[in-house]
Amino acid sequence: MAVVAIEGLQKTYRSGPDSVTVFGGLDLQLGAGKSLALVGPSGSGKSTLLNILCGLESFDRGEIVLFGDRVTGFGPDAWAGLRRQRIGVVFQEANLMPAMTLAENIRLRAELAGTNSADPQDWLARLGLEGLGQRYPDQVSGGQRQRAALAMVFAMAPGLILMDEPTGSLDRHTATLVADELFRWQAERQCPLILATHDLALAERCDHQLDLGGGQ
Ligand SMILES: Nc1ncnc2c1ncn2[C@@H]1O[C@H](COP(=O)(O)OP(=O)(O)OP(=O)(O)O)[C@@H](O)[C@H]1O
Ligand SMILES: [Mg+2]
Repeated sequence: MAVVAIEGLQKTYRSGPDSVTVFGGLDLQLGAGKSLALVGPSGSGKSTLLNILCGLESFDRGEIVLFGDRVTGFGPDAWAGLRRQRIGVVFQEANLMPAMTLAENIRLRAELAGTNSADPQDWLARLGLEGLGQRYPDQVSGGQRQRAALAMVFAMAPGLILMDEPTGSLDRHTATLVADELFRWQAERQCPLILATHDLALAERCDHQLDLGGGQ
């Protein structure tokens, strides 16, 4: 069964007299354990789709089914619950708590999701962040913050991962390390993954690619 099923998705942003139609009827299915890369030029709707799939953006028409449930009618609490327990989100603005260290952030994330799986230091080390567990988010770089956000998602053991430009702010060597860990983890857990990227090497490692810029 598909973990994510989208049929006829329509989305237009309206601000005053201006409107931008991002999706005019998008269809998509993602099966258990599969990975999908959203590709396409800047402005083609990659981030919009990820935001819709975690309830941070609305849509106009169409049907979205997540984990077997139609999302139409999900209120803010239902979406917040999904993001806490089932949908791991790694976006550009890594959502770390500023007053907690990286290790504390990871521990909190796991607790909120009801897992208290592994040692935070272990997740940090796997992503090349050994020794940074006691630092606060504003004491590390943007790429390090984003990797800490990925460690938080691993620790919460979600049923779906959404990532926006996971390697966008990383050098080639670190990007490869992060992708290796990501796909190893994803294969182990059979966790479905949707990521948006301009990095074609990363996109090619996914099971499927969807080009939002060139005809759907
Ligand atoms: N809040 C908003 N209000 C109006 N238009 C928006 C809004 N957010 C995005 N858009 C427009 O919707 C389109 C899709 O934007 P989106 O951010 O999804 O693109 P993207 O594929 O993620 O681009 P990038 O590769 O640059 O991150 C763009 O034309 C953008 O200008
Ligand atoms: Mg984007």
